[in-house]
Amino acid sequence: MKTRITEMLGIEHPIMQGGMHFVGFAEMAAAVSNAGGVGIITGLTQRTPDDLAREISHCRDMTDKPFGVNLTFLPSVTPPDYPGYVKAIIEGGVKIVETAGNNPVKWLPALKENGIKVIHKCTSVRHALKAEAIGCDAVSVDGFECGGHPGEDDVPNFILLPRAAEELKIPFLASGGMADGRSLVAALAMGADGMNMGTRFIATKEAPVHENVKQAIVNASELDTRLVMRSLRNTERVLTNAGVERLIEKEKALGSALKFEDIIAEVAGVYPRIMKDGDMDAGAWSCGMVAGLIHDIPTCKDLIDGIMRDAEQIIRGRLVGMLDA
Ligand SMILES: Cc1cc2nc3c(=O)[nH]c(=O)nc-3n(C[C@H](O)[C@H](O)[C@H](O)COP(=O)(O)O)c2cc1C
Repeated sequence: MKTRITEMLGIEHPIMQGGMHFVGFAEMAAAVSNAGGVGIITGLTQRTPDDLAREISHCRDMTDKPFGVNLTFLPSVTPPDYPGYVKAIIEGGVKIVETAGNNPVKWLPALKENGIKVIHKCTSVRHALKAEAIGCDAVSVDGFECGGHPGEDDVPNFILLPRAAEELKIPFLASGGMADGRSLVAALAMGADGMNMGTRFIATKEAPVHENVKQAIVNASELDTRLVMRSLRNTERVLTNAGVERLIEKEKALGSALKFEDIIAEVAGVYPRIMKDGDMDAGAWSCGMVAGLIHDIPTCKDLIDGIMRDAEQIIRGRLVGMLDA
């Protein structure tokens, strides 16, 4: 399949794996890229720019296909060494960067001078238009159903994607709730040029996370995610567990007086405990409503091949069949 995204990124299938904290290691990114999509290493999971440089080189040992790096810009008192991470990306010869969080404008000149395609992840049409205006090459549009940070507008993809298509000139990926061939065809029908998946890629053989995490996603239904940290305007969609229920009790009790320090036990340092140790009650970790559509743990190649096969069958069989009937 050829779309503006496959052409721009030089990939076979219009499928991207979004950056995921403590999931997006070189093994994950290489598996997705080798399967014809584009895999993404999560920059900030690497403790230092040198670690990121090593992870990029490790990924290159496992694939000769294009892969990218996610750079998430978070407001923080002591920001990570962003100039160092950007340098590691440029010197590592990476040609695709997924930015997320704050406006990436400060980093665009350095990235673009080095021929890097920048895909900014946004949760609203106004942020997507801003990304287009500052010179991003594409955007990834994350609907309310997505795992991670859906923003504060709560617009689901059935509205958000066609709205993005009405306004944007640059290509965009549909993100949030995407799982299979049906998702891809629907995303394309609503004007997207491909799809980005997070949660679905965690439940794959190659995802470098504890088996408990994969099983938790397979076991979960679409009713099992919760929104947390809304009153801090840092809303995150997470899979429910004992730690999350505790967090929600604190949110109810403290209301608008809640401060980050009140919930630090349920949100700080949780990712390694979940992803590496499989301690599934440790606290809040991002997971999409799409868990309800995930029933197996395939290889990335089987997953992507199946998506493309099903998409073709839906288009050529079901849809054209309806027109021709
Ligand atoms: C466990 C997990 C960790 C994530 N970490 C990040 C991150 O560090 N930076 C980021 O930009 N997005 C992050 N995301 C969001 C994904 O890149 C992607 O946008 C989202 O998962 C899409 O929704 P889906 O899960 O319904 O496919 C994370 C998602 C998950 C599930």
